[in-house]
Amino acid sequence: MIGPHHLDKSFQYSSKDLKKFLERPEDIDIKKSICIDVPCGNGRNIFFLASHFDKVIGIDINREYLNEIETFKAVYRTNNISCKIYDLKIIIPDEISKANLVSIIHFYDKQVIEGIKRNLQPGAILFVETPNCRGGNYLDLPNENDLVTFLEGFDILSMKKNYCNSNYREQKNISFTAVLIKC
Ligand SMILES: C[S@@+](CC[C@H](N)C(=O)[O-])C[C@H]1O[C@@H](n2cnc3c(N)ncnc32)[C@H](O)[C@@H]1O
Repeated sequence: MIGPHHLDKSFQYSSKDLKKFLERPEDIDIKKSICIDVPCGNGRNIFFLASHFDKVIGIDINREYLNEIETFKAVYRTNNISCKIYDLKIIIPDEISKANLVSIIHFYDKQVIEGIKRNLQPGAILFVETPNCRGGNYLDLPNENDLVTFLEGFDILSMKKNYCNSNYREQKNISFTAVLIKC
């Protein structure tokens, strides 16, 4: 499947919050640095990220998605993207520990997100946008305790959260978008 986003040079299908953050980075020097998009899917955000960073690495378990990105690198004349296949439930790639920014968009998995957090270098930025409340692929979400534990060890630059359907603290029902800095 080739997403229309590949052909859209205004990046209108990329995460709106990611664009909002990267298009006003006056307080953070993120250019000339390394970004990892994990998991990157078939590249909805990766070409946008490549317009901001010197080097972008996309990681996903799905070979077909990574092949689509490779195909469209030529169309976009983008040579600062590389793709790597990993099952994040088995390995958290070493590259994470060298990244200046890691984006985790529409994929919340408690084990994976905690593994990525452990491997971030101090000062690295983590942009997280969970799946929203409406359902769809990989729809797992944290509950209040998961979220509190996850946020420990980060400075919070921005945070939006939304309780889906109910406000029971135990229920895995928090959809959130956050920009975090590893302490
Ligand atoms: C809903 S998509 C989001 C992709 C992208 N971040 C975006 O916003 O378009 C979820 C992605 O997670 C990938 N994925 C699922 N399980 C994975 C795993 N264990 N390791 C690596 N990637 C995985 C899928 O292949 C899929 O591309």
